[in-house]
Amino acid sequence: MAFRGPFTIPRQLLTGATSFGARPTISSRLRCMTDRQGLATAVPPVTQDATGSKGPTAMVFMNMGGPSTTNEVEDFLSRLFADGDLIPLGRLQPYIGPLIARRRTSKIQKQYSDIGGGSPIRKWSEHQCEEMCKLLDKMSPETAPHKPYVAFRYAAPLTETMYQQLLADGFGNGKGGRAIAFTQYPQYSCSTTGSSLNELWKWRNRLEGKRANGGSEKEGTIQWSVIDRWPTHSGLVEAFAQNIEAQLKTYPEEKRDQVVLLFSAHSLPMSVVNRGDPYPSEVAATVHAVMQRLKFQNPYRLCWQSQVGPSAWLGAQTSDTVQEYVKRGQTDLILVPIAFTSDHIETLYELDQEVIHEANNPGVKRAESLNGNPVFIKALADIAHEHLQKGELCSRQMTLRCQGCTSERCLGQKKFFAGPENASMVI
Ligand code: FES
Repeated sequence: MAFRGPFTIPRQLLTGATSFGARPTISSRLRCMTDRQGLATAVPPVTQDATGSKGPTAMVFMNMGGPSTTNEVEDFLSRLFADGDLIPLGRLQPYIGPLIARRRTSKIQKQYSDIGGGSPIRKWSEHQCEEMCKLLDKMSPETAPHKPYVAFRYAAPLTETMYQQLLADGFGNGKGGRAIAFTQYPQYSCSTTGSSLNELWKWRNRLEGKRANGGSEKEGTIQWSVIDRWPTHSGLVEAFAQNIEAQLKTYPEEKRDQVVLLFSAHSLPMSVVNRGDPYPSEVAATVHAVMQRLKFQNPYRLCWQSQVGPSAWLGAQTSDTVQEYVKRGQTDLILVPIAFTSDHIETLYELDQEVIHEANNPGVKRAESLNGNPVFIKALADIAHEHLQKGELCSRQMTLRCQGCTSERCLGQKKFFAGPENASMVI
């Protein structure tokens, strides 16, 4: 479902171990949480221990998520269409959103059936986070143990469930502890990372209380910091470049340099672009960095997928681009999903089963998604390690709101994550 980004209504939509020794998986801990519907847990509490470690540190991967089974599709769509940060539908959104979701459900269920019965995004997110935490334990023993959590915006495990699990694991509730919200959207958009942070801020206030006027914090609340963007990190760039090189090798050597690289990212309505959303420029920065690493040996373009509806969107569209180049005789093309960190319906269905299928040419292929790529997982660990060492609460860039932003929620959220000392920088 082309719905991920800053997005838009995707095209298809519209038409643990809790003790710090053994490490149970995220899914087992969150399943346990869901089953109990409460905070009770057999897990020993977090202790900011006496060994000199500043850990444990909770590493929270934020992403949109996707239905793991076709039975979850309607709930997923209902949450997605209820999110005004993603799809602004006005004051009637709480009523209109579920109606649209219900109308779309059977069509989208069929698409998830066609890719194996559900989205793999949870499986990949949990794997990536757990593997990153293992690396971080070695790279940063002073902040270990690093405990993996996943918070999805529209599917299980939801932000609320993750937050309750944090509290059940002994963070907060007077015990403090450090948590890092690590966006899994490499390029920042107010529709994606911004929406996830708004949700995290909302649940923080509901479950731990609001920060008092003047910035003072209730004693023992969770101390949050944010990794809010990483579009040109060298490890991310290397992982993308290696996947492209691997696909290039499948073409005869004499033709390799003529293969056109088509970087594809979710589109944005022009109303969002014109509001000043940073996403288009950050996606372009990723593309340029990857091409620099590849020494600009192939011609390339950035195109945008999942445009829907009659309003103006950022283009050119990926599907049109492929069709046009094939029509001109350029039949060797590699599609590169440049804004996703794992497979999901936008790659497995929209690119593979629609765009590539419709191109009907063996030279039109797709670069592998990052998924369990060890170069990528090491990059995640490096990004987190740099963040831990720097000790910053969020990037300086996050304190600047879009020129056209009138949202009090954006303002409050950014002031919270910037911290009391930096709140005045948020404009
Ligand atoms: Fe971008 Fe509010 S919409 S900061």
